Amino acid sequence: MASFKEIISTLPRRKSWYGDDTFLYQGFWCDTFFIEGLMRAQQNFRSQPSDIVICSAMKTGTTWLKSLTFAIVTRSTFDDSTNPLFNNLSHDCVPLLEVDLAQSSTNRDPKNPLLATHAPYCSLPRSIIDSSCKIVYICRDPKDSLVSLYHFFARYLASKDMKPPALEEAFELFCQGVSSYGPYWDHVLGFWKASLDRPDKILFLKYEEMIEDTVLYVKKIADFIGYPFSFEELEKGSVEKIVNMCSFENLSNLEVNKSGKHREGTPVVIENKMYFRKGKVGDWENYLTPEMAVRLDSITLQKLNGSGLTL
Ligand code: A3P
Repeated sequence: MASFKEIISTLPRRKSWYGDDTFLYQGFWCDTFFIEGLMRAQQNFRSQPSDIVICSAMKTGTTWLKSLTFAIVTRSTFDDSTNPLFNNLSHDCVPLLEVDLAQSSTNRDPKNPLLATHAPYCSLPRSIIDSSCKIVYICRDPKDSLVSLYHFFARYLASKDMKPPALEEAFELFCQGVSSYGPYWDHVLGFWKASLDRPDKILFLKYEEMIEDTVLYVKKIADFIGYPFSFEELEKGSVEKIVNMCSFENLSNLEVNKSGKHREGTPVVIENKMYFRKGKVGDWENYLTPEMAVRLDSITLQKLNGSGLTL
């Protein structure tokens, strides 16, 4: 039987804007490392009904959503000062399917129902689709996602003394759909359509709406994943506490997120601070020309046409 690497080597390939080859797997562009992990997960991962799967394309608010959901599900286990989020990046509290759980579903803390993936809906392991586990998906204005993604890779390359590409080059590839787990719009649409078909299984969130009223969305998420706030908790401000603990200001100023590293000792080691840049809506205005914005908006309109979704 062909190895995963052999299968990947036969897939359509392009140069990504950060230098490596990227491959088209099940309709989405991705690096060898993550495709291999996803293939393993598709083969090995067995979901439990109690699982809560955080799904997202890259740079759409994953770090934040992981923190919020982790804080929600652990609120009765830890008190205000002992929550692991004070000493750990949220990516170290919520395992990533295609890396941490690729080999075995049991490689998990049995007390933690959360896991995450950047895989598109069509590539999720069958057991996630078939089991009664919950999925929470977050998406974001593609203009802000692109700008965030560009800065992320520019900083990553700079940390390895490599020259980042021009923003124009990244923009062009993004428009063509060639970005990590892109085409971005197809990723969003996959989960959007599935959430319309199965609203009890998939909660579809937008970063901008969550920024606008985080308290409301924390309550919604908690209800959806089966960890609703009691009347007493609502009265004593438990929701606001979680919102504050997971705010950009709070998390980005924690020592672990200023100086720590994620996945130290692996080929994909990253400084924690790279997951925190500005955390704002509309920062694209500082980087994209009006022409670029019009072009991205028109692709978004065209791609989402008839879906009932706006971004
Ligand atoms: P910007 O680059 O626009 O600042 P992801 O977590 O999916 O990698 O997305 C990263 C984006 O989420 C970055 O956006 C980052 O700053 C922002 N972010 C990280 N933590 C956040 C938080 N607690 N609240 C809001 N945004 C956050």
